[in-house]
Amino acid sequence: MMNIALFGPPGAGKGTQAKELSKYYNIPHISTGDILRYNVREGTELGLEAKVYMDKGELVPDDVLIGLIRNRLTESDCDIGYLLDGYPRTIPQADALTDILDRINKPLDAVINIEVNDEELVKRLSGRRSCACGESYHIMFNPPEKEGICNACGAKLYQRDDDREDVIRQRLAVYNEKTKPLIEYYEDADVLVNVNGADDVDAVFKAICNTMDQFK
Ligand code: AP5
Ligand code: MG
Repeated sequence: MMNIALFGPPGAGKGTQAKELSKYYNIPHISTGDILRYNVREGTELGLEAKVYMDKGELVPDDVLIGLIRNRLTESDCDIGYLLDGYPRTIPQADALTDILDRINKPLDAVINIEVNDEELVKRLSGRRSCACGESYHIMFNPPEKEGICNACGAKLYQRDDDREDVIRQRLAVYNEKTKPLIEYYEDADVLVNVNGADDVDAVFKAICNTMDQFK
């Protein structure tokens, strides 16, 4: 059983890495951002509420996220472990997570902090193109075979509403204020592992595997 959280600022590569890691280790990838965007697309009550915050680059309220992650982690596919992406993002979310994980007896093995500097983050996010199927590309660093079209499913790629430069800056500010304190939180809990996220995708993948292999 592997119980892992991928941590890092917006654009660090959490989604890119989680997708591959989830296949490689065969554990469920739980991205709160993906779950919220799915709900926005489907027009659910949760989606309608979340969209207001997401479009501004703000965090969706803690009580909403805590309920969502509690439900998700108690689904049966998590019996073999989990790979969190984008949760927790605040101290109350982390406290709630500890509580949930204690109850289901699946404490975190590691919180992997993917480190990338701000200028690179802005470049990555402003050039990202996403697909509803979950794939994502970058116009320069990872372009699709056919411009604007998803390699995996053939659908038209889109730019996320929150990948505009002004919203990107806001997301980075929110990260620094509310999420970054979790680095110390997990350092104190002795589970934090730092990984250099500025390398290419394959090198970052290998660095993360070095840590995850210890928990196989
Ligand atoms: P979320 O979807 O989690 O967005 P985020 O944290 O802002 O992170 P991103 O998905 O933008 O970045 P990523 O690290 O996944 O990078 P990626 O791999 O795509 O959250 C969105 C919103 O939902 C939040 O703002 C909030 O409103 C809400 N939300 C979600 N969770 C919440 C929570 N827990 N609490 C409250 N609210 C919550 O890579 C980025 C780009 O870089 C891509 O184009 C990729 O191709 C490229 N790239 C990746 N790796 C490399 C590399 N090594 N070299 C070059 N390019 C690379
Ligand atoms: Mg992501």
